[in-house]
Amino acid sequence: MTRMMVLTTFVMPLGYHRNSWCRQGSRAEEVPGLDLLTDIARTAENAKLDALFFGDVVHATPTLRGDTMMNGFYEPMTTLSALAARTRHIGLIGTLSTSLMDPYNVARMLASLDHLSAGRAGWNIVTSGDGYQNFGFAEVPDPAQRYRRAQEFVEVVKQLWDSWSDDAVVVDRSERRWLDTAKLRKIDFAGDYFTVEGPLNMPRPPQGHPVLVQAGSSGPGMALGTSVADAIYTAQPDFDQAVSFYASSKSMIAANGRDPDAVKIIPGIVPVVASTQREADEIAAELSSFLDVEQGRLQIAGDLKVDLSDLDLDEPVPAERFDQIPQRSSRQEIYRRKSVDQELSLRDLIHDRARSTGHQWIAGTPATIADRMQKWFETPACDGFNLNSPYNPEGFERICSMLVPELQNRGLFRTEYEGTQLRDHLGLARPGLQF
Ligand SMILES: Cc1cc2nc3c(=O)[nH]c(=O)nc-3n(C[C@H](O)[C@H](O)[C@H](O)COP(=O)(O)O)c2cc1C
Repeated sequence: MTRMMVLTTFVMPLGYHRNSWCRQGSRAEEVPGLDLLTDIARTAENAKLDALFFGDVVHATPTLRGDTMMNGFYEPMTTLSALAARTRHIGLIGTLSTSLMDPYNVARMLASLDHLSAGRAGWNIVTSGDGYQNFGFAEVPDPAQRYRRAQEFVEVVKQLWDSWSDDAVVVDRSERRWLDTAKLRKIDFAGDYFTVEGPLNMPRPPQGHPVLVQAGSSGPGMALGTSVADAIYTAQPDFDQAVSFYASSKSMIAANGRDPDAVKIIPGIVPVVASTQREADEIAAELSSFLDVEQGRLQIAGDLKVDLSDLDLDEPVPAERFDQIPQRSSRQEIYRRKSVDQELSLRDLIHDRARSTGHQWIAGTPATIADRMQKWFETPACDGFNLNSPYNPEGFERICSMLVPELQNRGLFRTEYEGTQLRDHLGLARPGLQF
């Protein structure tokens, strides 16, 4: 079978390029309502994208720094449930934190979303570096501990999904028996972090297990992703690094005894699409013109958790500032490479972060953007892309009506949905009962 790209979209209704909501036509007044979102979802579905993806953070720290992009304005599970009712085919992937939630509720919410959407649910597993002050924690647990908890958390969730056999619901009217209770089992899980009796309070999800996605590219992040995830989101702005990340992820997947083809590696891309290069450059310049540089300084300082207030905007962030960060996340490492190795000035770093947040960014025609995506896909540096719409709704409409057809014409992406469930779109098998 021909290998096809996976295309999902990271839904940021106020636009991925920071402050792009200032553009005329952004419909920013409608956030956080449902209508703008429904239009975005239907645009994505008409283009046959695999899935809508919602990130999430459970704090308002970026918002307080004037950053409307990465926010919690749309709570993923309620939002995706609403969108399940307004779409028919597209996958619905939502972020839920293994550090700030508990596995029984998470298993239940995702199973419910999978039932309500007839098999379209996915879970972006994150361990959260922030937000602990809202949950009574005195301090942020270190990454190693967060990832240990995440491994156990996912294990419990999968056992709960498997606590009902697929044939437990019998609907036998003559015997007045809806359910065969012999087909349910307690899980009696007792681990380092969780004690859970089970069974879950609802039938096994239509997909068996909703699709598991992991986003995080540090050592423990990759260990989690390559051992449990069906898809891995990653920020890879550089082609050579992406090629090596792809190769090492696939070999870690194989070393975990799993099929490397059954785990999709999906870096983000921010494409500014226009019919000429000149027009694309003009749109990009307009988007950059909305940026407040001092706000950007605060936001980068927040990402890095170091003070940058004394720095000259025309000089790079000095290497010592990065040395102050005890355990750099993969995103902080990208900022370090741009400042120290590529010598980007602080001002340029602010602009770069505003438009890309560490992802690959490109402004061009459908053909030039597709050339780049095709090269990444065929090398391979990835199995597809998470499309980050630079501005909404027009920027996303252009991606779907100009760029996606170019990929379809090249035979790189589907022209029709072939199945009904998210696992079908991704070409993933339905897991049998594992426990
Ligand atoms: C595409 C993408 C989306 C992400 N979405 C979220 C999110 O919604 N919420 C969150 O807390 N972290 C999110 N993250 C952050 C990761 O979960 C992870 O914490 C981060 O990449 C740092 O871990 P690492 O050093 O292992 O990469 C996302 C990362 C990527 C690459």
